[in-house]
Amino acid sequence: MEKVAIVTGSSSGIGFETALALARDGYYTYATMRDTKKGDKILDVAKKENLKIEVLELDVDKEKTIKDCIKKVIDNKKRIDVLVNNAGYFLVGCIEDISIDDMKSQFETNFFGVVRTIQAVLPTMRNLKSGIIVNVSSVAGRIGFPVTPAYISSKFALEGLSESMRYELAPFDIKTIIIEPGVIKTNLFNSLIKATKQDSAYKEITEKVLKGLTMMSEMGTPPQEVARTIIKAINSENPLPRYPVGNDALMFLEAKKSKTDIEFENYIKKELFS
Ligand SMILES: NC(=O)c1ccc[n+]([C@@H]2O[C@H](COP(=O)([O-])OP(=O)(O)OC[C@H]3O[C@@H](n4cnc5c(N)ncnc54)[C@H](OP(=O)(O)O)[C@@H]3O)[C@@H](O)[C@H]2O)c1
Repeated sequence: MEKVAIVTGSSSGIGFETALALARDGYYTYATMRDTKKGDKILDVAKKENLKIEVLELDVDKEKTIKDCIKKVIDNKKRIDVLVNNAGYFLVGCIEDISIDDMKSQFETNFFGVVRTIQAVLPTMRNLKSGIIVNVSSVAGRIGFPVTPAYISSKFALEGLSESMRYELAPFDIKTIIIEPGVIKTNLFNSLIKATKQDSAYKEITEKVLKGLTMMSEMGTPPQEVARTIIKAINSENPLPRYPVGNDALMFLEAKKSKTDIEFENYIKKELFS
């Protein structure tokens, strides 16, 4: 039986590498993206390696594109084995500098987009009594950090959703996996959206954190490592709830676990300001 995978946000970075890794692992893979003109790159690799990859339009902000995409997959393949919710973007700016509309847009893509896509695939997975849903969260889904409250809270919401879903979907043999990358070298940082006011009271900290993030992104973990972790997770009989990726993610999560809230806050302040 040919297994079928769907990946959102496959035009670049983690989604691109994960779609390729799934196809190399034998899945018929739907590499979905909001702008299918960006699909040539993955189709070129697929052609060279003889991989079963199809590009379909899916914008997680637009319900109709999700429904149309899932319908095509079901009409053609009658099954969905793996859904990787990967599409997302990075809104940067301190709480007073972010408009409610900017904040809503961040949640629209990073959180509600995931909810919509999950709701669209669940009837099929439930009928099959199997399926794996992989939610690409972040170490930012577990740790607060200045200048990124919109992104961080969208990922915290995704963690809460994923933890809760696991209980609901387990009786139908549907598994939920959270992936928590640290800083990964992708387009996320080049395409970040910066929300700052001209007379912002937070100019200094915003510039400092942005500079730090740019430096960290240049030394980030390659996206192929996230893809490898996703394959390892979906191939394990009993996947863990969470898979961190990258030494930075492991370091921050270990510190969070071993310290009190105040000790952890002081540790982040020291990392940031000294
Ligand atoms: N890079 C990191 O350090 C890092 C760390 C932890 C977690 N993550 C998470 O990993 C995921 C992938 O990001 P990445 O690092 O691979 O960055 P990326 O290279 O910028 O990829 C982001 C992908 O999401 C797509 N996307 C954005 N909005 C979308 C929408 N409304 N509908 C469908 N697709 C949309 C982008 O499409 P376009 O090409 O059309 O813009 C692109 O394909 C994100 O959820 C991100 O939060 C990244």
